Amino acid sequence: MKGLILSGGKGTRLRPLTYTQAKQLVPVANKPILFYGIESLVEAGIKDIGIVVGDTHAEIREAVGSGSRWGAKITFVKQDEPLGLAHAVKISQGFLKKDPFVMYLGDNIIVGGVRKFAERFRKEKPNSQILLAHVPNPSEFGVAELSRGKVVRLVEKPKNPKSDLALVGVYLFDHNIFQAVNAIKPSRRGELEITDAIQYLVTKKFNVQSHIIDGWWKDTGKLEDMLEANRIILDSLHLDIRGSVDKNSKADFKVVVEKGAKIINSAIRGPAIIGKNARIVNSYVGPFTSIEHDVQLENVEIEHSIVLEHSRIQNIGTRISDSLIGKNVVIEPAPGRPESYQFLVGDNSSFKIH
Ligand code: G1P
Repeated sequence: MKGLILSGGKGTRLRPLTYTQAKQLVPVANKPILFYGIESLVEAGIKDIGIVVGDTHAEIREAVGSGSRWGAKITFVKQDEPLGLAHAVKISQGFLKKDPFVMYLGDNIIVGGVRKFAERFRKEKPNSQILLAHVPNPSEFGVAELSRGKVVRLVEKPKNPKSDLALVGVYLFDHNIFQAVNAIKPSRRGELEITDAIQYLVTKKFNVQSHIIDGWWKDTGKLEDMLEANRIILDSLHLDIRGSVDKNSKADFKVVVEKGAKIINSAIRGPAIIGKNARIVNSYVGPFTSIEHDVQLENVEIEHSIVLEHSRIQNIGTRISDSLIGKNVVIEPAPGRPESYQFLVGDNSSFKIH
């Protein structure tokens, strides 16, 4: 069995971060989202993995490398235009050949991994297996209608969804999917939809199994989803202090302090992670916060947030929460008079100020 991770897409809902970074490389608990997908496949015994890449291919190739660090072999497949998930399958036929495969959307995280689904697929050998989850906002996903446990209809982002069962971004297929992706036509948004390809399999009476997952799953397209994914992953951490925590500081419960990080006269209340060579001085880092490497915090209170590498935040009077702060960002009080806010902010940024 092979793996196919889709890592193209523009990540418009995470702008401005995605102007300068692939959305799949935005870190959750200081690890790129994409790596959770690779690890899930490897854990399911799948080591021959293709990654479909788009405009951000150089960055993704560099971050992932050959795959040897996971004991996997990675093959990159270039998608020149984002023409849809089914199009990504189509152009990967040379890599996939006739092998069954797990397709994993590179911005999805599934707690508990995909091992049991891969095992069931290997044993029962259907033509496809889809994973479904009950969601409160089905019109933002592909939606499945079941009748007596069987999939009868799949619709991509329906205005009036007939059920609350969303297609999770992990799909299992055998080679018959190529017949489907070659037969379907582009949708209204101009993409070849994998949802339509699976509908084709259903219509042509191929065996499409469905499985309603009960564990936690997230498609991390938006800020709130990123923060939620961060929360869930951080919650699984154990205390691990590799950096230094001075005697005036407290770091306990589920706190990870990576090598070279310095915690000075501060309190870190877990679940939280402080990255390599970060410096936290006279500050409070509250639950569900990820501070990436080389970040500096001084006289700051922050919680339920993600701060990316090399940013510096200091002397902020109000607690920062529910935030995703990019790389190399500086937040500090404006000097002198009059008292004012001073911004140099990129396009599509968003501020909420007290
Ligand atoms: C894609 C699929 C959708 C699926 C979702 C899961 O949507 O088109 O059917 O439910 O992934 O993450 P997208 O995130 O590309 O809008």
